[in-house]
Amino acid sequence: MNIPLKQYWELLVKYLKPLKRRAALMAGLLLASIALQIVNPQIIRYFIDTATEGGSGRSLTIAAVLFLAMALVQQVTAVSASYFSEDVAWKATNHLRRDLAMYCLDLDMTFHNTMTPGELIERIETDVTALANFFSQFTVRILGNLILIAGTLVVLFAEDWRVGVAFSLFAGLTLFILAKMRSIAVPYWRTAHEASAEVFGFLEERLAGTEDIRTSGAEPYVQHRFGAHLDNRVRRWQRAWWVNFSVIFVLREMRAFNLLLALAVGYWLFDSNLISLGTAYVIVYYTDILFRPLEQITQQLQDLQRAGGSIIRIQELYQRTSKVIDGDSASVPTGSLQVQFDHVTFAYNGEDRVLSDVDFTLQPGKVLGLLGRTGAGKSTIARLIFRLYDVTEGAIRLGGTDIRDDNQVHIRQRVGMVTQDVQLFRGTVRDNITFFDSTISDETIMRVIDTLGLHAWIEGLPNGLDTELEHSGKGLSAGEGQLLAFTRVFLRDPGLVIMDEASSRLDPVTETLIERAVDRLLENRTGIIIAHRLATVERADEIMIMEDGRIAEHGERVVLEHDPDSRFAQLLKVGLEEVLA
Ligand SMILES: Nc1ncnc2c1ncn2[C@@H]1O[C@H](COP(=O)(O)OP(=O)(O)OP(=O)(O)O)[C@@H](O)[C@H]1O
Ligand SMILES: [Mg+2]
Repeated sequence: MNIPLKQYWELLVKYLKPLKRRAALMAGLLLASIALQIVNPQIIRYFIDTATEGGSGRSLTIAAVLFLAMALVQQVTAVSASYFSEDVAWKATNHLRRDLAMYCLDLDMTFHNTMTPGELIERIETDVTALANFFSQFTVRILGNLILIAGTLVVLFAEDWRVGVAFSLFAGLTLFILAKMRSIAVPYWRTAHEASAEVFGFLEERLAGTEDIRTSGAEPYVQHRFGAHLDNRVRRWQRAWWVNFSVIFVLREMRAFNLLLALAVGYWLFDSNLISLGTAYVIVYYTDILFRPLEQITQQLQDLQRAGGSIIRIQELYQRTSKVIDGDSASVPTGSLQVQFDHVTFAYNGEDRVLSDVDFTLQPGKVLGLLGRTGAGKSTIARLIFRLYDVTEGAIRLGGTDIRDDNQVHIRQRVGMVTQDVQLFRGTVRDNITFFDSTISDETIMRVIDTLGLHAWIEGLPNGLDTELEHSGKGLSAGEGQLLAFTRVFLRDPGLVIMDEASSRLDPVTETLIERAVDRLLENRTGIIIAHRLATVERADEIMIMEDGRIAEHGERVVLEHDPDSRFAQLLKVGLEEVLA
């Protein structure tokens, strides 16, 4: 597999540009700490040669003090370099995390149906973490170490040309082997990360379904499957690490061989009286520090391999473009909206039709009761109006505007939806009503609550608006969740309200509250109510019955009620709630 160098470079430039000054400081410190490694052995050489030649104690003391001082400077430089590279790494990766999270939120529902949240977490968190080193140190370290190698070779040549030639050849060979090994591990890291993503995905899905798993006694099965996923992950990671170790192993062996070579050459030159003992020491020392940069380069390249898998997957994510493309004008009109389905056909996967040739018009201010058995396509109609997906054929118009010509943010202001299962978040009741928008004042919220007739209910909660909801809104019933959702919707003052009634049974108190709130909500607005209960159906002006994604019947409620042959009349006779709930 080819490492996508161009993509690396683009990412690097994009995320380091805002951190220019810090990154430059970090680069300077890293290079300085590398350069300082070359200085110290010269002092030792001076020390050894002065000592063997019987030099003065004063010179030796100066050399020793200088050596200590240089070591100290080197440490301080190295520590500062580390600090700044961590800093740069975190800033750059957090920026990337934010970008990726926003990008995923913007992608359409088709994307989210194919990715579990666990997999997304793995992409946004783990993959990005793998890039941290790449952002902060990679280029500087590779560059710095290449300079260090070149510098060391120059010094070795200056000592003795034969030594220079021998070690140049050796360094060249080592680098060549390293470059060859560069790409070996990429696919292994990639599958390892994928296995991790599967574990997260599995866990997330099962945790979300804890209740159902318990009630159906499926724990042993879930445990078994989880075990299998974990085993798989261990195997993949083990394989990736083995490949990794092989690279390190080869490198360690070469280092040992290198040292042996230096000792042999040094001894031979010293023995033939060609060099001093100090120079022999310097040769051994430099060959060893020659190896450090080589090793660092491999380490960096290995990080690059790991990052390679991550970058490929991040790029894959970025290549997923939303199928729902915004129009450029906010053209859906204000006020109560006309809804028009113009021969709409839709399939979630592009093939299996869930809606076929759905064609109807609902005039502004009218309320449509949408009925049908489970799976008939009722919620799908709601999702399409909301542009969570685009129609496969035909068009949907709101107030005469094709919703594809408007932008999604605007449509979501003009259309309010209360879903079947209202999603609540950990936070206070207030946060859940305003979606954490602190510019909405308590007075505004209370006014809406009063209008919807929910004052007593809110006051009855342990701390009113400040009542803390646990995660996913546990502690509120589905009906109560919908009451909060009504408030959310009402705050936005939409021209069309879609209500997907909870199919679970409601307690009588909540039911009365919902009835009242729905009445207020629908005043002067167009409404589509996906109904499961008779009481809700009775406020509809028109009735539409869906069957297998088609309109089986559509007409005025009063007319259909009095036509004994209509499906609606028959439904009422059999008992609506028995059939639909
Ligand atoms: N995200 C999805 N991907 C693929 N198919 C889907 C998706 N959501 C729903 N479907 C399918 O589309 C069909 C219609 O689903 P829809 O949710 O619109 O039914 P519904 O009428 O709202 O049913 P209910 O009364 O149970 O809420 C069903 O066959 C369902 O399996
Ligand atoms: Mg539904």
